[in-house]
Amino acid sequence: MTKIAVIPGDGIGQEVIAEAQKVLALALPGYEATEYDLGARRYNRNGEILPDSVLSELDEHDAILLGAIGDPTVPPGVLERGLLLKLRFELDQYVNLRPSRLYPGAATPLADVKPGDIDFVVVREGTEGLYTGAGGNLHVNSAAEVATEESLNTRYGTERVIRDAFERARRRRGHLTLVHKTNVLIHAGGLWKRTFDDVAAEYPDVTTEYQHVDAAAMFLVNRPHTFDVIVTDNLFGDILTDIAAAVTGGIGLAATGSINPDHQHPSTFEPVHGSAPDIAGQGIADPVAAISSTALLLDHLGRADAAAAVNAAVERELGSREAGASIRTSEVGDRVAADVAGQLS
Ligand code: IPM
Ligand code: MN
Repeated sequence: MTKIAVIPGDGIGQEVIAEAQKVLALALPGYEATEYDLGARRYNRNGEILPDSVLSELDEHDAILLGAIGDPTVPPGVLERGLLLKLRFELDQYVNLRPSRLYPGAATPLADVKPGDIDFVVVREGTEGLYTGAGGNLHVNSAAEVATEESLNTRYGTERVIRDAFERARRRRGHLTLVHKTNVLIHAGGLWKRTFDDVAAEYPDVTTEYQHVDAAAMFLVNRPHTFDVIVTDNLFGDILTDIAAAVTGGIGLAATGSINPDHQHPSTFEPVHGSAPDIAGQGIADPVAAISSTALLLDHLGRADAAAAVNAAVERELGSREAGASIRTSEVGDRVAADVAGQLS
């Protein structure tokens, strides 16, 4: 029995996860869901963010499905560092996988691209870089204040994520782009580039390319069709994947997996969008990103067929929409679930 920990979280997280679960019930029949109350509501109630006992329980699951975390009542950084990043670090989710595909019907701001033109994945490093919290402040709140924010990069950490990216490129169109800033960040950039070149020697079937992050940001907008797999560090990946989401119809459609490829710990799957408190509770949030994140979950658990069925259903759902028409959260979930049921019956 597959055990899924479900963290609906805050705001529209709860609404979209309900729809994702409708779909998952069909794609992964009989899975066992255990719900965990984490996020702004719990924090505001009793100050708890991610107690160690809860983390240990989560670790016993096959995967984690997460809605959205956050609310304006909680100061910035508290839930991000204490919950989202703690999960990534403690569960060693070193591959932050973010696919971008332009579906028929999705509103791209780019002219001259059509569905099928954009189809790439970003493999963002998830446990190192500027996200470790290393650094500090001196002389706080004085005219002499100094702040440092250190980027941690290890051979071990870069090599394993680069290797994962080569494996994914090999299973796709066989092209991998390393993105960094080696012309300025000579220490970390040097390590990434040398590691990339070493691993590349083991993958003669994969063509490789290097781009500085500023150039990559531009190319994602003016020639996104040239990308297949991108591998990059934590912060560059964070920024580039928002651009990637924007050119493929917006962050409302993007899904992500924080993955431990070795299956030593559960991986977390979630929509990239946030809790959207402004529209929460109205039943109008688009559950497509949450549903797409179940496809990533299924794929990670070795259910490629079920994942493909969910993706095909999402593609039909988006293709059937009138431009600018409003949607109802539960109706989208019902339509996609019915489509998946039809494919798998
Ligand atoms: C994301 C988010 C997170 C990140 C924040 C909320 C910690 O922006 O998942 O992309 O920076 O990774
Ligand atoms: Mn982000």
